[in-house]
Amino acid sequence: MNMLINGKKELKGQIEVSTSKNACLPILAASLLSDEPVIINNLPAIDDVEVIIELIRQLGVNVKMQEKTLELTGRPEQAAPPYELVRRIRASFLVMGPLLARRGSVRISFPGGCAIGNRPIDLHLKGLQVLGAQIKQLGGDIIAQGKLKGGHLYLDYPSVGATENLIMAASLAAGTTYIENAALEPEIVDLANFINSMGGNIIGAGTNIIKITGVKKLHGSNYTPIPDRIEAGTFMAAAAASRGDVTITNIVPEHLKAITAKLIESGAEIIEAENQIRVKGPHKIKPLYIKTLPYPGFPTDMQAQFMAYLSNAEGSSIITESVFENRFMHVQELCRLGASIKIEGRTAVVKGVKKLEGAIVKATDLRAGAALCIAALMAQGTTIITESEHIDRGYENLVEKLNSLGAEIIRKETKRCITV
Ligand code: EPZ
Repeated sequence: MNMLINGKKELKGQIEVSTSKNACLPILAASLLSDEPVIINNLPAIDDVEVIIELIRQLGVNVKMQEKTLELTGRPEQAAPPYELVRRIRASFLVMGPLLARRGSVRISFPGGCAIGNRPIDLHLKGLQVLGAQIKQLGGDIIAQGKLKGGHLYLDYPSVGATENLIMAASLAAGTTYIENAALEPEIVDLANFINSMGGNIIGAGTNIIKITGVKKLHGSNYTPIPDRIEAGTFMAAAAASRGDVTITNIVPEHLKAITAKLIESGAEIIEAENQIRVKGPHKIKPLYIKTLPYPGFPTDMQAQFMAYLSNAEGSSIITESVFENRFMHVQELCRLGASIKIEGRTAVVKGVKKLEGAIVKATDLRAGAALCIAALMAQGTTIITESEHIDRGYENLVEKLNSLGAEIIRKETKRCITV
């Protein structure tokens, strides 16, 4: 599917952010921890959420979607999620902890790498072993078995996914678990709040030591996950890059501090209110030094979007990607639009150019696709983004939302051209 964007459009108006993809995915996995009805509200209509719901359904749980509300009931009948779904999205791996906790065994394919890196799972597995799981590898799958008991875990790196998997596994383990050097992301806090709403006993989420006291059983819940801070940040960057004036609603300002600080440093004007934020773009974008870090540092999921924004700055910016080893796939595509970017290892030097020119570019991953949309809004002329399906994985109705702010974007089905 191609996205065709006419550039030089200033975004103006108000837009509401959807519920967080990266909160919904672990919360959906955690719904496996109870047989009782779990209701999750405001689910975003995005591909990754659809994939994990299908995976949970294929595990034997009854799923019923009404508008954006999902009801999940029943016990997972089997503990071997289908290979093709696990390979499609890495977050499928988050069902490992709940399945092991519920059924005492799980067989799951290695999640595999993706465009931004090889995405290992050693921290997940090491933690589960400390909780008493025996783990072996068989034909590309991981098999984990054992009755889980509390333990003292130390994460070598504050991995979001490992923290989430281990919180879920420990929630039904016999005894108390401590996770040290845990990830601090808001999505971790949301997951802990969700499990506690089911009768769980988790304290310290959002700090680097989380204490989980295992319980015998978890009951159902009716829960609404937090808004998507990365979608909000993407709209903030788009508003600033297009030199527009956009109010973004349904946000938690606390979650956006690093993004807000960097936009202000670049010369944008930010007006914060309770659950909304207004961004007015600068006439001249000041160059920045950015280093991506685990929360509350500057989010890696915003790195590509800011690189697009800074490609038009008055001077050179330096962006260091410290979280993933290969998250610069968007650089060559931005250069096709006229950006001047040089990569040295994990650092990109972005020399601001006067203007970008529309071109045909390719979305290599979800956030790279969003970055190309931002660059296309700034560019002279028309840009075509191919493989724009990547964007649908994590942004609900992005085209409609941007067009409601004055963008001119259309989607075009592409005929698969087979080169002979
Ligand atoms: C989550 O991925 C997010 N995905 C990512 O968002 C986000 O970029 C990432 O956290 C970092 O914030 C979801 O929440 C579904 P990690 P996750 O484990 O859990 C290394 C997006 O665009 N690591 O914190 O996979 C790993 O290689 C996506 O929405 C190990 O070495 O991230 C990476 O370098 C992209 N061993 C670093 O930690 C492990 O066992 C961060 O990974 C696990 C991770």
